[in-house]
Amino acid sequence: MKLIAKGKTKDLYELEDGNYLLKFKDDLTGEDGVFDPGANKVGLTIEGAGRSGLKLTKYFFEILKNKGIPTHYIDSNIEEATMTVKPAKVFGNGLEVICRYRAVGSFIRRYGMYAKEGQPLDAYVEITLKDDERNDPLITEDALHMLGILTRDEYRILKELTIKISNVIKEELAKKAIELYDIKLEFGRIDNNQIALIDEISGGNMRAYKDGKYIEPLELEKLILED
Ligand SMILES: Nc1ncnc2c1ncn2[C@@H]1O[C@H](COP(=O)(O)OP(=O)(O)OP(=O)(O)O)[C@@H](O)[C@H]1O
Ligand SMILES: [Mg+2]
Repeated sequence: MKLIAKGKTKDLYELEDGNYLLKFKDDLTGEDGVFDPGANKVGLTIEGAGRSGLKLTKYFFEILKNKGIPTHYIDSNIEEATMTVKPAKVFGNGLEVICRYRAVGSFIRRYGMYAKEGQPLDAYVEITLKDDERNDPLITEDALHMLGILTRDEYRILKELTIKISNVIKEELAKKAIELYDIKLEFGRIDNNQIALIDEISGGNMRAYKDGKYIEPLELEKLILED
């Protein structure tokens, strides 16, 4: 097994058969012990957070697979906190695609002159560059095209897939009376250049609320997976 990259919350290895292995760590992004899915550094470590994030990821990726949505997921080992995936080529040095149902976080920081905290948004899609040094800047379709990061077609596919996947997650949460406010996804090209969902889907990359109260990542896993 060869280490390819050490991320903030996961480490990435290459397996002998060419597939990749994601090892989920107990680190969460945030600042000074407070979790923030949009943060660019590790802010806190909680025992069991890795396994918890993987459990939710496995749960959501299996639902997506049953709906015929392309993802990198192959299988997972909860005990070890590892997930086997298909290797993907990311766009440029990586993009994050955000889908928003209510205005919170960086949306309010940017558009607070016009937007009210918590106001409904209609599955609004935004793309940011994975560039910690520049604080993950927002990028437009024209710039993505001009800089050779995405073709117009790829942009359209990415946006459509994002809305489709986010709506699936939103409906899943709604079954437990939980409301999805926003979610952050990653995509890459797998197999024969097919665009597929990669990385993870857990409490670590979404904001979910119940009765108007924000739910922490570990709590979210418990609420979703308990019967
Ligand atoms: N199927 C895949 N193929 C290739 N890379 C992947 C795949 N799934 C996830 N990744 C990458 O593995 C890394 C996972 O680590 P983690 O989420 O901790 O990284 P990060 O800290 O968010 O970002 P980065 O390491 O890029 O700064 C990410 O860079 C993600 O893009
Ligand atoms: Mg990540």
